[in-house]
Amino acid sequence: MRRSVVIEAGPPPIGRSSWVSLLPIDQSVAAIRRTTVGQRLSRLFGQWGVFFRGFVEQPRMVGSIIPSSRFTVAKMLAPVDWNACELFVEYGPGVGTFCQPVLDRLRRDGTLIVIDTNPLYIDYLKHTIGDSRFHAVLGSAEDVETIVKAHGFEQADYVLSGLPFSTLPAGVGPAIAAATHRVIRPGGAFLVYQFSSAARDFMAKHFRHIDSGFELLNILPCQLFWGWKRADDPAA
Ligand SMILES: C[S@@+](CC[C@H](N)C(=O)[O-])C[C@H]1O[C@@H](n2cnc3c(N)ncnc32)[C@H](O)[C@@H]1O
Repeated sequence: MRRSVVIEAGPPPIGRSSWVSLLPIDQSVAAIRRTTVGQRLSRLFGQWGVFFRGFVEQPRMVGSIIPSSRFTVAKMLAPVDWNACELFVEYGPGVGTFCQPVLDRLRRDGTLIVIDTNPLYIDYLKHTIGDSRFHAVLGSAEDVETIVKAHGFEQADYVLSGLPFSTLPAGVGPAIAAATHRVIRPGGAFLVYQFSSAARDFMAKHFRHIDSGFELLNILPCQLFWGWKRADDPAA
């Protein structure tokens, strides 16, 4: 019988000093597959668990019980010109649904700054994303200009928002929309997804050119908006 060494993660079974064991090769392969599936499942539920906890603690600030779908992520990011993107900013990253897809597309010398008011999410992101281009900031999107400057930039190329505009405290949505328009460079864009079209109303005060989309494969189906900063935008 062919045998092989199997090394598994986690504490060894009771009565054994280590996971290193001699198993028939077919059992070894099955054990490795089981471990990988188990690790993936626990990572998945771990991330969703953190997100749900954040929702239970601050429902009006989070506004959703589960993260966005991969279909929403792909559609939202599709119009971005990644070659021209030096600084990408994200508001309300939650557990980072968009962060890795953004980092996968971002230039090697690019920067991603994410801003969230929830310390649970910022802690989680700092522990799970190890990329020198990534900066997680505990704060409010209203302060985006100060945060961008503190990281050595004058303006951002793109700003992405998953904020629940319709349930934010009074005055916060308009302040964020105004600050975002100021911080984006001409030609850049404000990318927004939301269950309702409330965000579009906030954007429209500053962005004259807004493209719209819709993603059915999301819980709940959501509206997508791309506000392009142009010279003929209304004065702030
Ligand atoms: C619907 S969740 C978005 C989660 C994630 N982006 C996704 O797509 O799965 C909204 C997030 O906005 C954050 N948030 C709420 N108000 C904020 C503010 N003023 N500034 C920054 N983040 C805020 C919440 O803490 C939460 O993480």
